[in-house]
Amino acid sequence: MRKKQIFFLGILAIAILFLLVSLASERQKEKKMEELARYLDEEEVAFAIANGIFLEDIQEYLEYEKFNIYYFRSYKRLKEDYRLSALGAINLFHNPDFFAFYKDPKPALFLETPLVLVNKCHYLEMDYVPKDLVLIDHYELPHYDRSGDEIYLKREAMENLKRMFEEAKAEKLSLVVYSGYRSYKKQEYLYYEVYNQDDSLSARPGFSEHQTGYAVDLSTASAGLTHYFENTDEFKWLLENAHRFGFILRFPKGKEWATGYAYEPWHFRYVGRHAEAMKLQGWTLEEYILANFEL
Ligand code: DAL
Ligand code: ZN
Repeated sequence: MRKKQIFFLGILAIAILFLLVSLASERQKEKKMEELARYLDEEEVAFAIANGIFLEDIQEYLEYEKFNIYYFRSYKRLKEDYRLSALGAINLFHNPDFFAFYKDPKPALFLETPLVLVNKCHYLEMDYVPKDLVLIDHYELPHYDRSGDEIYLKREAMENLKRMFEEAKAEKLSLVVYSGYRSYKKQEYLYYEVYNQDDSLSARPGFSEHQTGYAVDLSTASAGLTHYFENTDEFKWLLENAHRFGFILRFPKGKEWATGYAYEPWHFRYVGRHAEAMKLQGWTLEEYILANFEL
């Protein structure tokens, strides 16, 4: 009799415990649903719960307009596989051709700003000429002189180039400007007549960032636009210092997958205040934009 009582009490205790645990877990689930409901509609909450997605998983994605809970697993996979930021993953998912050269080109991004993106996936119109171009002759900068082919840059880029050259000169380094703004027509000539349509060396007309007025080719007088430039003290100084003046090496070694171009030690790009962060992270302009701006 006593044994039986103990047995029943035991069963009762287990049942009560089970009930309490299920109540607690039900309450926990409700809490998680309430949290999600602050950001998602009813159907989305149900989807999230059914797929074991909680607020802590999606928190870093929520501020972005394109975020869609139904694609969360894909964002997560991209983020891990390519070591992207949450925004980078959202951007890449919704712009799968961001690195697909010449596949489905879009108009240039951030036009008329130092962040302008012109590459094999972002183009400029044939008649686009940047505002505020200034002629190098007014800046006393050592440059390659070709009559009828004067060197122009955007004013902000030219002024910062001047500051950079002055500091380099104080270090007894002599840099020379070889090329700046290029018209669509000039790029057409270079691509077809000089580079024989070699896409690893030359941009197609409309796809060269020289047409933005923010790109500049630099070297020493003796190295010219050759790979020999990378052995010079001038180049080594630029690698360490160009970012302080808002310039980045635009087509670095090992980043061909992002830029689409073979390494060019002479091609620098003015990106203004963004240069510091790109240098710090070792990012190309493409990677920087993908990680920081909703596309
Ligand atoms: N050489 C660079 C990629 C240009 O043609 O713009
Ligand atoms: Zn160039």
